[in-house]
Amino acid sequence: MKVVEGIGEVRAAVAAARAAGAGEVGFVPTMGALHAGHYSLIDAAGAGGDFVVVSIFVNPTQFDSGEDLDRYPRTLAADLAGCAARGVDLVFTPGAEEMYPSGAATTVHVAGLTDRLCGASRPGHFDGVCTVVSKLLNIVRPDAAYFGEKDYQQAAVVRQMAADLNMPVRIVVGPTVREPDGLAMSSRNARLSPSERAQAAALYEALQMGAEMVLDGRGPGEVRGAMRRRLAERAPSGEVDYVEMIDPEGLERVEEIGDSVLIALAVRFPSARLIDNIRVDLPDAGP
Ligand code: PAJ
Repeated sequence: MKVVEGIGEVRAAVAAARAAGAGEVGFVPTMGALHAGHYSLIDAAGAGGDFVVVSIFVNPTQFDSGEDLDRYPRTLAADLAGCAARGVDLVFTPGAEEMYPSGAATTVHVAGLTDRLCGASRPGHFDGVCTVVSKLLNIVRPDAAYFGEKDYQQAAVVRQMAADLNMPVRIVVGPTVREPDGLAMSSRNARLSPSERAQAAALYEALQMGAEMVLDGRGPGEVRGAMRRRLAERAPSGEVDYVEMIDPEGLERVEEIGDSVLIALAVRFPSARLIDNIRVDLPDAGP
């Protein structure tokens, strides 16, 4: 496994792999502090391709607070060992100067999809994500890039960006990997206090309760209200940022539930803001 910090070295390594006959290059962009969620995407890239590239870069432009950026977990040695154990071919670990040399003046903005949910509570966040993901895709030039459903809106925004900008890459989205109590794995979970960690299980509990209510035929308003009450009761240290029922394709808020709905939520604990979502497909009502 090669570990490089320079853009030129990435290009050279990918070109060499292609020259040596690598048919498909798969790419998993990450911010490190790798966990089983990241590794599931790395395994999918390995299963789908011949040469797997992982980037580890805590991207400053997508953080809305300097404090969150400073406190973001960094575990590079363990990340590299995990990548090596899974047969990753190339890890790109650039510094901030490599990615954002002085004088850079371009930002990638996806309109519409970014004005709601996490985009509404974290202004500028998705511009940072889109800009860094475009740069990484231009540097690696993979055939397929892998993203997690845990960050559902991010995957939708990246898919829109890749289509709008005619990027020659397949965007693949993998399922959310969870802890035994249902909490979606996230690098930020490591920051939770023991009490917050215990309360954090309430996010998935609330989502599952919401899903059952939808399958029972309850409407969005009632479901949102019941989920908020459950969160207030079971995660009292968490402040609900949003609980939304949205259309899984366009991410618009739904007032009436159709064939499928995505229930998404964000909860701010003193130590970390957590997000999660669940998709509910209603059984076909039949003729
Ligand atoms: P990061 O939070 O490190 O996540 C990297 C990828 O892993 C993302 O596509 C994310 O959705 C996925 N992921 C995280 N937790 C997951 C889980 N529990 N199950 C499945 N997949 C999971 O997302 C980012 O980094 C950044 O925004 C990035 C795309 C790298 C741009 O900086």
